[in-house]
Amino acid sequence: MDEEKQAASQHHQGYMPPYNGYGPAEAEQGTFLKILLLCCKGQVGWELHRSLSPIGLVTAIARQEENGLSGDLSDPKALSATIKSVSPDIIVNAAAYTAVDQAESKPEQSRRINAEAPVHLARMAKEADAWLIHFSTDYVFDGTGTTPWKESALKGPINVYGKTKLEGEEAIRESGCRHLIFRTSWVYSAACKNFIHTMLRLAAKRDRLRVIDDQIGAPTGAELIADVGAHVIRTAYYDKKLSGTYHLTAAGETSWNF
Ligand SMILES: NC(=O)c1ccc[n+]([C@@H]2O[C@H](COP(=O)([O-])OP(=O)(O)OC[C@H]3O[C@@H](n4cnc5c(N)ncnc54)[C@H](OP(=O)(O)O)[C@@H]3O)[C@@H](O)[C@H]2O)c1
Repeated sequence: MDEEKQAASQHHQGYMPPYNGYGPAEAEQGTFLKILLLCCKGQVGWELHRSLSPIGLVTAIARQEENGLSGDLSDPKALSATIKSVSPDIIVNAAAYTAVDQAESKPEQSRRINAEAPVHLARMAKEADAWLIHFSTDYVFDGTGTTPWKESALKGPINVYGKTKLEGEEAIRESGCRHLIFRTSWVYSAACKNFIHTMLRLAAKRDRLRVIDDQIGAPTGAELIADVGAHVIRTAYYDKKLSGTYHLTAAGETSWNF
């Protein structure tokens, strides 16, 4: 068997090809998935740029305009022009207003990015007949209870961040566009700012750290979210009934006092 046929055969047995921008099956059929990744510089966005590359042709953009494409979620007109220009099969939104505490004093900013932008994105995805992939949070729940939340559990956000993220989710579900919403929690990564970097920075400066120990959560690596996310995106793209909302977190739990 020559190299090309062997690669295609491995692919059909579930083998994920090494990074080359697309898989052998798509190459054979000329059906590359066109993926628009909004926000390739955050924790999850950065990892998605890597994990999505083997399943399609990824156009990855950040907030600032580059090559005539803008990923600014606060500018629906610019986003619409970007989507028309790229004409994606899949739009992946990894951007969000993630400053949970600041959102209390700047609710309008949190609402614009977390609640209103998804409304526009869902409408644009539907018009473009594209999937919308979106990320959400455990903050859509009220934080009580001692067992992991199920997707269908009653929502009850208690802060601005949680409320605006839930509004964004609901807008996508109500829009009728094909979508995947992945709720995750306590995201960390080697790059970018996150609570682990904060603790390491403070530990380098202080002899003793005082942290709360009454919050329990499941720390989840951005790399894991991106790898599992890419797999689910590809599977769902060919099986449209999988459109819906899913929890995507690592197993286990800990407090800030770990
Ligand atoms: N971080 C967590 O612990 C956590 C937990 C649960 C769920 N999530 C969810 O997971 C997803 C990814 O989070 P993450 O941890 O990767 O976030 P992150 O590292 O804080 O990155 C957020 C990104 O959003 C971008 N952004 C903010 N406003 C924007 C705008 N107007 N236009 C375009 N981009 C904008 C930021 O860009 P700039 O760099 O230009 O500001 C930043 O790169 C989000 O939906 C978040 O709600 C996160």
